[in-house]
This record gives sequence, C-alpha cells and structure tokens, in this order.
Amino acid sequence: MLRWLPSVLLLLLFIHRSHSQQTYVDNRQLDCNNNYTTASGYTCNGPTSCLSYVTFRSQPPLYNTPTTIATLLNSNPTTITTLNNFSSTSATIPTNTVVVVPISNCSCSGGWYQHNASYVLRGTNETYFSVANNTYEGLTTCQAMIAQNPFNFRSLAVGNNVTVPIRCACPTPNQTAAGIRYLLTYLITWGDTYEYMSNLFDGVNVQSILDANELNATHIIFPFTPILIPLTTTPSRINTTATPAPPPAPPVIPVAPSSGGGGSSSKWVFVGVGIGVGLLLIVTLSGVIVWCFRRRKIQEGENGLPLTKHSPATALIPPGRSNSWSISSEGVRIAVGSLTVYKYEDLQKATGDFSEENRVKGSVYRGIFNGDSAAVKVMKGDVSGEINILKQINHSNIIRLSGFCLHQGNTYLVYEFADNSSLSDWLHSTTKNTKYESVLEWKQRVQIAHDIADALNYLHNFITPPYIHKNLKCSNVLLDVHMRAKITNFGLARSVEETDDGELQLTRHVVGTFGYMPPEYIENGLITPKMDVFALGVLISELLSGKEAATRSPDGGDEKDVAELQEGLLSEMVKEVVRGGDDVREKLAGFMDSRLSGEYPVELAYSMAEIAGKCVAVDLNDRPSISEVFATLSKILSSSLDWDPSDELEHSRSLSHGR
Ligand SMILES: *[C@@H]1O[C@H](CO)[C@@H](O)[C@H](O)[C@H]1NC(C)=O
Ligand SMILES: *[C@@H]1O[C@H](CO)[C@@H](O)[C@H](O)[C@H]1NC(C)=O
Ligand SMILES: *[C@@H]1O[C@H](CO)[C@@H](O)[C@H](O)[C@H]1NC(C)=O
Ligand SMILES: *[C@@H]1O[C@H](CO)[C@@H](O)[C@H](O)[C@H]1NC(C)=O
Ligand SMILES: *[C@@H]1O[C@H](CO)[C@@H](O)[C@H](O)[C@H]1NC(C)=O
Ligand SMILES: *[C@@H]1O[C@H](CO)[C@@H](O)[C@H](O)[C@H]1NC(C)=O
Ligand SMILES: *[C@@H]1O[C@H](CO)[C@@H](O)[C@H](O)[C@H]1NC(C)=O
Ligand SMILES: *[C@@H]1O[C@H](CO)[C@@H](O)[C@H](O)[C@H]1NC(C)=O
Ligand SMILES: *[C@@H]1O[C@H](CO)[C@@H](O)[C@H](O)[C@H]1NC(C)=O
Ligand SMILES: *[C@@H]1O[C@H](CO)[C@@H](O)[C@H](O)[C@H]1NC(C)=O
Repeated sequence: MLRWLPSVLLLLLFIHRSHSQQTYVDNRQLDCNNNYTTASGYTCNGPTSCLSYVTFRSQPPLYNTPTTIATLLNSNPTTITTLNNFSSTSATIPTNTVVVVPISNCSCSGGWYQHNASYVLRGTNETYFSVANNTYEGLTTCQAMIAQNPFNFRSLAVGNNVTVPIRCACPTPNQTAAGIRYLLTYLITWGDTYEYMSNLFDGVNVQSILDANELNATHIIFPFTPILIPLTTTPSRINTTATPAPPPAPPVIPVAPSSGGGGSSSKWVFVGVGIGVGLLLIVTLSGVIVWCFRRRKIQEGENGLPLTKHSPATALIPPGRSNSWSISSEGVRIAVGSLTVYKYEDLQKATGDFSEENRVKGSVYRGIFNGDSAAVKVMKGDVSGEINILKQINHSNIIRLSGFCLHQGNTYLVYEFADNSSLSDWLHSTTKNTKYESVLEWKQRVQIAHDIADALNYLHNFITPPYIHKNLKCSNVLLDVHMRAKITNFGLARSVEETDDGELQLTRHVVGTFGYMPPEYIENGLITPKMDVFALGVLISELLSGKEAATRSPDGGDEKDVAELQEGLLSEMVKEVVRGGDDVREKLAGFMDSRLSGEYPVELAYSMAEIAGKCVAVDLNDRPSISEVFATLSKILSSSLDWDPSDELEHSRSLSHGR
C-alpha cells in the first residue's frame, strides 16, 4: 500500500501541473493534419466567461482601421478606439501597429476558451491555414477551424462563411488570487523575447509570463504564435517604439538567457553538446531559419529583383553549421524524433551485404527488416537536409523515411518500400518486363495525377518550411501495391543549397531534368513553387499521352537547333492540343496514349489536358497554384470514378451515328 504512494503523488503533481495554467502552442499550429490539444485552444480551467484582450497588428489594405479590425475580430470599434487612443473609429492605423482589441465575452465552448468571429472567404487561394495564420495573424489555428467548421478543407469555396474561434483565456482561480485580472493574447513576432514582452506591458515580469504559459526561460518561442500575458490592470495602447528594440541577435528564435547567466554565444554552439536534445534543437532551429531564408528568396524571386543574399538570419550562424551536424558522429544511437537510427550491421544483414540481387536501381537496395521490405539508399556525405525535410513529413503520397545510418562518410536512408516501382517504368519501360506489360487504366492515371498534386499541395501549403520539390519527374513517382503514387527523391535538388551560399549559386547550378524544368529556372535559376506546378503539368501530360517529357535530348551529341528541341517537348505538345480550333477532338485523340485504346472519357481527358496546359504556361504568373490544380484534379477524379468505360462506347457510337 505504501509502495504506491510515490507514484500517486507523482500523478497528482502531474495533473496539477498540466491543469494549472495554459500551455504554449509551440508551433504546432503549423501542422494542420494533426490534432494537438495546445493547438485546439486554451483549456477551460477557470470561470466560464470573462473579459479578455487580444492583440492584432494592423495590416493594410483591409485591416487597418478600428472598424475593420473590429469586424474581423467581432469586437467593438469604439472600445478599440478609446483603448488605443486612436482619433476615430475610421482612423488609419499605421502598418504593423500593435492594436489592443477587447474581447467582451471570452467563453467556454467545447472545453476551450474562445471567442467566435466569422469570416467570409474571398479568394480561391484561401485555406484554413492562410485564414488562421495570415488573415488572423495566429489568433486562431487551422486545427481549431477545421474542428469547428462544417466545410472540408479541400472543398473551401469563395463565399463560405467560416467560424473563426479566436484564442482567448480567463485567469484561473490561482491567478485571480495572485491579483491577475485579465489574460491578454499577444502575438509573437520576429525578434520578440520574454524581456521585450515584459517591457511592452508595464509591470508584467518575465516569470509571470513564463508561468502563465507553462514555459521556462530556455524554451524557444516562435513568430506568429500567441502567448498569454497576465495583466493586473486594464491594458492601454502599446507603443512598440518606446521600448528598446530587442537585441539584434539572435533575431529569429529568441532564446531568453537562463536567469542572468550565459552569454548569447553559447546558445549557438552545438558541436560537442551531446546529440540528443542538441540535435533536435538544431533540427528545429535550422528548420525555422531555412524557412525564413527560403521565404525571402521566394519573394525576391517573384518580384523579379536581382537575386542577392541578405538574410539577417543567416548572418548569425556560422556558414556550414546551420543545417548540418557532424557526419562523423557515428556514436549516435538514439532515435531522432520519429526516426530510427540504424546500425550499419543491421543494414548489411537486411540487404544481404548490399548484394547485387537486392539492388533495386542505382544506389537503392531492398532490405528486409523484421519481415518487412524497406528501401535502403546509399548517399555520399551529409544529407541532413533531406532527413530534416522528410522527418517532419507525414503524408500518404510522399515516401516515408523511417530511419538512417551514418557509416564511414556515407548516409544510408531507410524508406518505405514501393512495390510497384516507378511511374516511368509503367509509362515508358522499353525492356520487356512482364510486370509493366499491363497498361495503366484511365482511373489509375487520374488517381496518380491527383496523388502527386495532393503531395505537392501538402509540401507547398501545409508544412513549415514550405518545400519545393524541384526535381519532380516520372522516375521520382513511385507506386505502391495499390497503384497509389508516392513522390520521392527530396535530396537531388539539394545541390542548390538553400541555406549557405544563397541565390547567386542558383543561376550557376541549374540542375534538373530536361523537359520538366520551367523556362524561368533554366534562364534565371529562379526557384518558386510554380516550378513544381510546371513539372506536374508535364507529368499529367505524360499520364495522358504515355509520351516522354522530352523526345529530343539537348545533350544527344549532334547539333540540334532550339526550335527542334522545343518541338520535342511534351509541354509544348499539350499546349497545342488545348489551343482550340475545330479539330480539338482529333488533336486530343492523337495526343492520348494509344495503349488506352480509346477507353477514356473524352471530356475529362480534355479537362486534364487543359489543366496540364495551364501548368506549363511560359509565364509563371499564368500558372495556377498547386491548390487550384489539386481542386481541379479532385473534381476530375470524382467524375472519373463514376465513369464506366461502357458509357463512353455508347457515347462515341451515338456521336458517330449523329454525324
Ligand atoms: C493554487 O495554488 C495553491 C497554493 O499555491 C496550490 O496548492 C494549488 O495546487 C494551486 N491550484 C492550481 C489549480 O494550480
Ligand atoms: C481532432 O479531434 C477531434 C475531437 O477530439 C476529432 O473529432 C477530429 O476528427 C480530430 N481531427 C483529426 C484531423 O484527427
Ligand atoms: C491620446 O492622443 C492625443 C492626441 O491624439 C494626445 O494628446 C494624448 O496625450 C494621448 N493620450 C495618451 C494617454 O496617450
Ligand atoms: C457569454 O457567452 C456565453 C455563451 O454564448 C453566454 O452564455 C453568456 O451569457 C455570455 N456572457 C455575457 C456576459 O454576455
Ligand atoms: C490570394 O491571392 C490574392 C490575389 O492574388 C493575394 O493578394 C493574396 O495575398 C493571396 N492570399 C494568400 C493567403 O495567399
Ligand atoms: C504566417 O503569417 C505571417 C504574417 O502574419 C507570414 O509572414 C508568414 O509567412 C506566414 N507563415 C506561413 C507559413 O505562411
Ligand atoms: C462558436 O462556434 C462554434 C462552432 O460554430 C460553436 O460550436 C460554439 O457554440 C460557438 N461558441 C459561442 C460562444 O458562440
Ligand atoms: C456568418 O455567420 C455568422 C454566424 O454564424 C453571422 O453572424 C454572419 O452574419 C454571417 N456573415 C455573412 C456575411 O453572412
Ligand atoms: C525548460 O523547457 C525545456 C523544453 O520544454 C525542457 O527541456 C527543460 O528541461 C526545461 N528546463 C527546466 C529548468 O525546467
Ligand atoms: C512611442 O514612444 C516614442 C518614444 O518614447 C515616442 O517618440 C513616440 O512618439 C511614441 N509613439 C506614439 C504613437 O505614441
């Protein structure tokens, strides 16, 4: 009986802790596909409703007056005006001013404190994530919106009136007893530190901020996430310029010094700190840094400005340190996040010592681990970039990385095994391999296109850092046992290094596969998400026609002129098909894969060709975003699933009859 006591106490302590205050969201708001309690909202652990406050940074052109902000947040324009000492409810508030917004009735709903606002979607590119992060600046999360709205995230349409549960919170009885009257939801931005926030709100000390969010001084905080500020008095206008700006370093993820000690330099010294926590931290840090840098890059690129490298974030980190960890650290044993760290001997055993018969292709071997197949890929040197990307990805259409091994300067990546090899084997295999003799049917082709778009949509819109695959092609699309597509090979394009030498390198090292590369990349080395959209357009064309992306190769040896090369491009052919004219039907029929023997719904095939044609537009601004392509393919897929080949025969018979 007595033996229990310690564990009971422990349990009590644990319960007490987890229910005491509110838990910081910890960047989980980015992972829309997963439910986390911290992302759902602040737990109802005090009175059922209260007066509360949130902050909002004025953003022109839409949300920069008390009235428009009040409408967005379902608050009161007059109170906003008086509280912030604005001249009138229609006064223009300078961009990025931190506006204090009162929430008159923050109340319990489904276990969370929240305040409902509503928002009508106005753009086709809006997602739960963009509304939560960009429009509402992080005052809500995609997870909370998904949970509380009837609309599926894939079928959001302009005009939908969505509920936006704004995060707010009421003080717990203990906080009230300590004199805390309100909890204000403050939005963290680049460079904020605990000290800086404490200065912004007079009389709120760092420790009470930490306590209110169940944080400690070494805990990393992230931009665009909310943090609770416990207030003993009614808040008034916040003057961010009156407070000394946060120290310049480190601006990306401020790490507050642990109570008075430790120079800031020590935070960046990773080497020698045991892997483990250190490694996880680096992975997280580099993720944010890469993300920050990448976004700058993309923005600059899209503006067409000269590609120069000026990222304050990278200046902090010794070159070469940012995204890597020592490859010689063979002693790594622990699992890193969800990944298993394999021993080299285990890989040898699984692959029959990397025997020739287990070689799948190139440096990829098939291995058997506890009876299950896995693909083992041998790569030279440091591939931490690919590992960092894949370890955070969890999508059924992206090949899953299960672990890795470092051995004598090589990295061995262990992936899930795709039973049905690559799409290019199915579409273009010349060797008489019985397996690929059977022809992909229409529905399978549409499903594959849809799967690829699904994966790209996830990479572009649902993870941080957003990732551009850059090397999408037929041979990088693998097919599983159910003929569902999984995209792979996230490492090859890494030679255009994201973090270190920056953009200038991009122009010099254009790597990729001829036929899939968009013109702006070939000509200027410009890398944007539209690069993947282009490649997807080519892939869709391949699925339709069964032809290769480029029938004439530029390095074929003999002199070929540009026009001739151009003519051999599938991207040009598909545009020709959908260019219009009287002979559209004939052009389409001529383009389609003859192996389909006409067994495809003509209208849907045309719609597919049409979207492919848009994807391969010369001007990247004319290409649709991946979410639009995905939406279109979803419609084509659902219509295709209803389609029955016999209908088409009837249909075409009646058509020819009518002529
Ligand atoms: C409130 O504070 C008291 C005294 O510090 C403590 O014993 C109690 O566990 C706290 N309750 C909660 C819910 O945090
Ligand atoms: C999230 O959790 C809620 C209830 O806890 C559940 O209804 C919902 O399906 C979950 N969503 C996901 C994506 O798991
Ligand atoms: C409010 O603004 C007015 C001028 O617009 C200024 O005179 C006054 O001092 C301000 N009050 C506070 C408390 O900042
Ligand atoms: C706050 O909202 C809740 C739920 O809608 C409602 O029951 C309560 O009466 C409201 N309180 C005030 C003061 O308006
Ligand atoms: C959606 O597109 C519009 C116009 O192209 C643009 O102004 C807006 O920033 C986009 N919104 C998002 C969330 O990307
Ligand atoms: C989230 O929103 C902020 C602006 O509020 C923007 O700068 C940032 O890029 C957004 N994050 C993502 C992942 O889009
Ligand atoms: C907020 O909206 C959600 C979803 O529409 C609803 O379930 C909840 O009751 C609302 N809460 C309040 C306080 O109105
Ligand atoms: C959206 O819905 C809310 C309540 O769910 C309603 O108050 C609001 O008027 C609606 N907005 C529009 C534009 O229909
Ligand atoms: C502070 O928080 C971090 C991350 O949650 C944790 O690893 C660390 O042990 C905490 N430190 C203290 C002193 O509680
Ligand atoms: C903010 O404080 C600074 C320094 O005290 C002052 O110069 C500036 O006018 C203030 N801004 C506003 C909007 O009150």
